[in-house]
Amino acid sequence: MRPNTKPGWVLCTTMGLGMLFTGCIAARQPSKLPELAVQTTGFWPTSTCRGCHDQIVAQHLESSHEMSFTNPVFQAQYQQDLLPKAAGDSDLHAEARECISCHEPITFATEGPNVISLEAVNPEMNGVTCDVCHTITGYRAPKPQNGNYVIVPSETKLGPLQGQGDWHHAYSELQTKSEICAVCHEAVNHHGFQIKATFTEWLESDFARQGIQCQDCHMNVDGFLTAGKPRFSSGKAARMTLGSAPERERLYTHQFPGAHSRTQVEGAIALMIEAKSTESEGMIRIEITVDNTRTGHSMPSGSVDLRLLWLEVTASAEDRVLILPAEAAVHDVPDGTSLYSIAGLGVFDTRLLGPEIPKGSRIYRAIFADDSGQATLDSYDAVEKLFDNRLKAAEKRQELYRLMIPEGLESDLLIEATLKYLPYSSTFTDRFGLSKPEAVIVAQQKMLLPTHSR
Ligand code: HEC
Ligand code: HEC
Ligand code: HEC
Ligand code: HEC
Ligand code: HEC
Repeated sequence: MRPNTKPGWVLCTTMGLGMLFTGCIAARQPSKLPELAVQTTGFWPTSTCRGCHDQIVAQHLESSHEMSFTNPVFQAQYQQDLLPKAAGDSDLHAEARECISCHEPITFATEGPNVISLEAVNPEMNGVTCDVCHTITGYRAPKPQNGNYVIVPSETKLGPLQGQGDWHHAYSELQTKSEICAVCHEAVNHHGFQIKATFTEWLESDFARQGIQCQDCHMNVDGFLTAGKPRFSSGKAARMTLGSAPERERLYTHQFPGAHSRTQVEGAIALMIEAKSTESEGMIRIEITVDNTRTGHSMPSGSVDLRLLWLEVTASAEDRVLILPAEAAVHDVPDGTSLYSIAGLGVFDTRLLGPEIPKGSRIYRAIFADDSGQATLDSYDAVEKLFDNRLKAAEKRQELYRLMIPEGLESDLLIEATLKYLPYSSTFTDRFGLSKPEAVIVAQQKMLLPTHSR
């Protein structure tokens, strides 16, 4: 039975909806939806979707979208640093009132910009809920950013299913395009400084030219493209007790993996090692290629002031491990700031990096500075970019290392390259008394180098 073809079709939900629906929703009477489901705000809580979209709800509950307001890291910066600072600065206060446009959209949509506490939010409706993404109808010109979405709460949910609409759902092109993501993933702070540019980075990449949207990578089963193509799951978009939904070739997953999820980060970037002999006796040149071809934007991206990606290279033999330091800046501008591409060498590194990042590692990152020229991890204080050597979308970058093979070494040398990722350093979490983040291994490559033949 197809919902939109049977007159009098009845939506009956199965699980845990007794308190939300007194009975079933009569499909042809959208104006008679039960009151609790619609709420005074007009938005539906995520739990109302569970009866029919149980898999999607389960995926969503694991996503960082669901936790965008309750996330302790957001709460710490917002409550402990921003709000006290903003009390004496009206421009900063204006920016603070806007945090909830992306982190707590339903409160923003119903009450406007404001500073709110965890206790003040409706636990049924906090975070970037299902209804947020599925009732956004557009954004305010000229470009999508800073939470400038237009949201119209409605029982009609907007999505990608073409030609199958009924009162409950309708096709909308916006939901199939990167622009729906850009409304929150692109941002400028109150100083007019660009603090998030994932959408622009994507726009400038070949992926955008090929029409590969954020959704194609972030909502497929792998979290990235496999051989240049997304792999989607298939099946039913809805499972109901009464009636049935059609089989769909392509279903979009809703976990939205990113920095917080190992599944996507692992395997997203590839490493290759090559060793070459050099003119000087005993000296080996090691070339490591860091391959970002699976990522549709720079890496790191998003909250780039916080995110850290670095390469550790070691050579080991006979129980000895030698850490190979990155060669001084090959790619970077020759103005002193290039030192920031090697962990521990930049003047502000004691503030920016904790002991979890070995000194001497090649590090890919962006550094923001405040109006006194000091590096800052608080994006709302940033007025300029001090440094940026992040991997670009689809870039392959080569790193060079040199190694002197110890005299009289009998065994082979094991060269190991490991790319690691941290969403924020311990210097950031220590400030707020948060637990230390654990580094994720993004990629690892080994090579055995015969030494006796030289
Ligand atoms: C961050 C935004 C976002 C959130 C949150 C979100 N969705 Fe989606 N959803 C999308 C987008 C975008 C698509 C379409 C992707 C495309 O076509 O490119 C989609 C597709 C769908 C579809 C179409 C069928 C399918 O699986 O492809 C359904 C049904 C759906 N979402 C339901 C939900 C439910 C239920 C929730 C909450 C549990 C939810 N969505 C949360 C953005 C979101
Ligand atoms: C009683 C069952 C039921 C409930 C409850 C329900 N849906 Fe659906 N939904 C469906 C069916 C059936 C479809 C059509 C699936 C298909 O045709 O493949 C659908 C389709 C959709 C689509 C696809 C839109 C399009 O046309 O592209 C979205 C988005 C969606 N639902 C979101 C939600 C959200 C968000 C909630 C909770 C606020 C929700 N649904 C609650 C049954 C339900
Ligand atoms: C209404 C605002 C909003 C929309 C729309 C939105 N996002 Fe997000 N997204 C956020 C927020 C806020 C976070 C961060 C939550 C946190 O960590 O506290 C986030 C987190 C993420 C993450 C996880 C990043 C990480 O570091 O782990 C990914 C991936 C992501 N979003 C992708 C998307 C994609 C793709 C779309 C479009 C289909 C989208 N988002 C639409 C607000 C939004
Ligand atoms: C070609 C595939 C692809 C496209 C297109 C793509 N992404 Fe990503 N994205 C990735 C991969 C892969 C990662 C994880 C890389 C890693 O962690 O090593 C990622 C990571 C992220 C992160 C976390 C960044 C970080 O540094 O932690 C966010 C946020 C994000 N993407 C949002 C988006 C948005 C928004 C769009 C569209 C404007 C988009 N992505 C388009 C593949 C893609
Ligand atoms: C334009 C939408 C938008 C606004 C406005 C916004 N954020 Fe975010 N915020 C995001 C997105 C999207 C992410 C996730 C980006 C990524 O994955 O790197 C994020 C991530 C964060 C994180 C990192 C969370 C984590 O666990 O990694 C913190 C902290 C944060 N935001 C604080 C704030 C504060 C404080 C404000 C207000 C000054 C604010 N945000 C305003 C969209 C927004």
